[in-house]
Amino acid sequence: MSVYAALLWVLMLMTGAVFSSEAALAPLKGTPKANAYATMLYMGTPRDYEFYIAARVMLGTLVRLQVDADVVVLASANVPPHWQKTLIEEGAKVVVVNDIQNPYRDQNEFDKRFMFTLNKIYAWSLTQYQRVVMLDVDNLFLRAPDELFQCGQFCAAFINPCIFHTGLFVLQPSNETFSIMMHDISIGKENKDGADQGFLVNHFNDLLDQPLFHPPADGSRLTGLFRLPLGYQMDASFFYLKLKWRIPCGPNSVITFPSVPMLKPWYWWSWPTLPLGLLWHEKRVATIGFMVETPILIAESLLYIIIMLLALIIRQKCASSEKSSMARISCFGRGPCAEKSLYRPWSIKVIILGLVTGSFLLPAFTIPTTVHPFMGWGVFLLGSFSLLTLVINVFQLPALAVLTPWLGGIGALLTLGSPIYTNGIMRGVGIGVYTAMTTPFLWWAAKRVSGVVDVKAHWEPLMAWTSLRSEPASEILMKLC
Ligand SMILES: *[C@@H]1O[C@H](CO)[C@@H](O)[C@H](O)[C@H]1NC(C)=O
Repeated sequence: MSVYAALLWVLMLMTGAVFSSEAALAPLKGTPKANAYATMLYMGTPRDYEFYIAARVMLGTLVRLQVDADVVVLASANVPPHWQKTLIEEGAKVVVVNDIQNPYRDQNEFDKRFMFTLNKIYAWSLTQYQRVVMLDVDNLFLRAPDELFQCGQFCAAFINPCIFHTGLFVLQPSNETFSIMMHDISIGKENKDGADQGFLVNHFNDLLDQPLFHPPADGSRLTGLFRLPLGYQMDASFFYLKLKWRIPCGPNSVITFPSVPMLKPWYWWSWPTLPLGLLWHEKRVATIGFMVETPILIAESLLYIIIMLLALIIRQKCASSEKSSMARISCFGRGPCAEKSLYRPWSIKVIILGLVTGSFLLPAFTIPTTVHPFMGWGVFLLGSFSLLTLVINVFQLPALAVLTPWLGGIGALLTLGSPIYTNGIMRGVGIGVYTAMTTPFLWWAAKRVSGVVDVKAHWEPLMAWTSLRSEPASEILMKLC
């Protein structure tokens, strides 16, 4: 139960964070700024909501860092009005744009999630600003990098040694450049990935030969193209190798998460596999909090507690009925059954395997996707435990064997989240050793459950049969134990 106490504590912490952050939240005021941080928001991906949450956390972080710039969202016309309203309330300026139709959609290996990333080009149309820092929503700001506005017409960082990354770049808005780019898109100019990156890499194909950006000490603006130091785009995958940052040249400013979409830092399940997820959620606690998700998690937790109580009641009923008559030992908790087909051990084993798997899948799929990892894993462990207890008591299975994968899961979380590793390689070795050590236990658990099912399947029909002869069938079938 201490797991649950910890969970409640975390929930209270999150709710508290929500209310305290409300007060600190005030829209940007004053005259228009010379520069802007901008991001885009469009609809039609399977993860629109997650991107909306991520955008709010990123922009909220910038507002709290008190950047000397506007914070702009290039929102597609079909972004829900209440999302736009929330963004404005949280300090952003919303510029509504029409989606740029992607001419590369039919080319080989086109990834549908890039359908509207060409909207990024609209950054060049923001000519009311001297410079714009254009951002993907998976940037995590460690400081306010306002010196970026001193950079030239186009500046980007090379995460990949030869291809610059378009998750953060500086540009000088220009109607002329905007028209050229729109024209290139309309004629479907060559673009390897069909997304914004392929397009911009083509457009600024000589960026690798340009000098490194050093902000002039007098605060003046540079002219020309520059490469940005890696400190402005610290690839999270570098961190996972060393488990610390070793970024040369320039201050550590912005972390980016360009890898696997399902392991973006806002998903609760990406921690502890990707330890930096916690850092992202720290930003979320400090900005928008978890007000929407907290009641859902509380309701789910209550439901799982009720299921556990139900399992307990089933267990007690079984125990008392078994005591009252040894002949009436139930078959898998369903009461003595007249149909022989119910006793095929293989079908029952498959059903049990399915239910055990479902006990993990159901909680995993019903937890809101972007909650804090502690809340997510807490409700997940509570939910799977409660459903497994139900399976144990309904089928009268050995508790320890059925709970083995659950205990193994906790062990895996501790192994992954443990702070003892000096680098990512050691962590990989630790996970390998843990997996090798747990496999025999899982094997033992499977054999044990299978053995119990076999015994029940062979012996209980006989016992049920003897009792069937002495009692009316209807009365026996009514007994739900
Ligand atoms: C760019 O075009 C827009 C719309 O056509 C116009 O409002 C704006 O003044 C232009 N900017 C410049 C710098 O010419």
